[in-house]
Amino acid sequence: MVSEEVRNKVQWMLDPDITYLNHGSFGARPVSVFEAQIDLKRQFERSPIQFLDREGKERVAEARATVAAFLGCSGEQLGFVENATTAIGCVLQSLDLPARAEIVSTSHVYNGVRQLLRAFTKKNGSTYREIDIQTPLHTSDEIVAKVIAGFSNHTKVLVLDHVASITSIVFPVKEIIAECRKRNITILIDGAHAPGMLELDIDDLAPDWYVGNLHKWVCGPPGAGFLWVNRDYLKTTHPLTVSHFFEQGFTEEFDWQGTRDITSILGAAVAIEWGTTIGWDAIRKHNHALVVCMQQRLIDTWGVLPMSSLDGSLIGSMATVPLPHGYPTDEEQLKNLRSKIYQEHKVEVPLLLWQGSPVVRVSAQLYTNVEFISTLISALSG
Ligand SMILES: Cc1ncc(COP(=O)(O)O)c(C=O)c1O
Repeated sequence: MVSEEVRNKVQWMLDPDITYLNHGSFGARPVSVFEAQIDLKRQFERSPIQFLDREGKERVAEARATVAAFLGCSGEQLGFVENATTAIGCVLQSLDLPARAEIVSTSHVYNGVRQLLRAFTKKNGSTYREIDIQTPLHTSDEIVAKVIAGFSNHTKVLVLDHVASITSIVFPVKEIIAECRKRNITILIDGAHAPGMLELDIDDLAPDWYVGNLHKWVCGPPGAGFLWVNRDYLKTTHPLTVSHFFEQGFTEEFDWQGTRDITSILGAAVAIEWGTTIGWDAIRKHNHALVVCMQQRLIDTWGVLPMSSLDGSLIGSMATVPLPHGYPTDEEQLKNLRSKIYQEHKVEVPLLLWQGSPVVRVSAQLYTNVEFISTLISALSG
């Protein structure tokens, strides 16, 4: 666990007047990480050619080594992209699918990814389907069984969230990858929320593709997403935008996709080092224990049914809780309520729809404390 003394020492860029319960969306940056990126931006501005042309490659290679060690994988298989969505786009573009192939995900899929999969399959002549996995969920085995039961003879690719955005459920990806292998189904893990929230060893998981963000739970600058590919796909996976280094190697191609701000990538490595000085394991444990406590407070206050076991065994650092009866069941009205509690109470939290009912998703990070929940409850009842 992280001591109060250590937590108090970390300064965040966030406005301290905001009750910020939405780390999950865009993360938040410690001041030291933000300042380090600004310093890198200054270095670029002082001598752009030196920074990007002559030193850029080596700087990115160093950052890649730090990120790869953190993710438990080899740097040769790791490409930097803007975000998780772009990484999935690169994978889809590289697929060579047989006729009548089916791509499946689950009903927990992030909506942006859902639309990307719809658009891709529409154009490509394959089909897209979601396996319905209703909550509440109690065990990992139950989730594995439900995913497997949803495969058809045509299923060729599974796109699976590691941590689901709306429901906060952590999917048992290792077991599901093993089941996919037995069935010759290739598997892309969408780990947008996983780095920093869960201990990762991508080599050990060994999916076909793993995508993620370093701006959420690693607390790096926005614009640092990554794509990891199994060695089988190193030669056939290309960035969405091909530039000078086409067919000169996976990392060569991904390192140069036209001029871009590499300080996000370099800043992600700084963020990893920041977490290492505190201890990533301690951060994860702290955030998990805190969110389990926050979830319990909401459940006790509202008398609603939890989405997964209250012991927290199926969640990481976020928890999604159904809102009690009487809240809007319409997206637009929920959006308005969300803006209202931000404007009137300075509470930032996502209010979402799940299985047609309104839910709230709370995130725990070192700057959060359990009292934020009292502020949330009173803002929502006001
Ligand atoms: C599960 C999941 N996948 C993908 C994304 C997309 O991430 P980005 O907008 O950084 O591409 C998100 C964003 O929150 C997400 O939660």
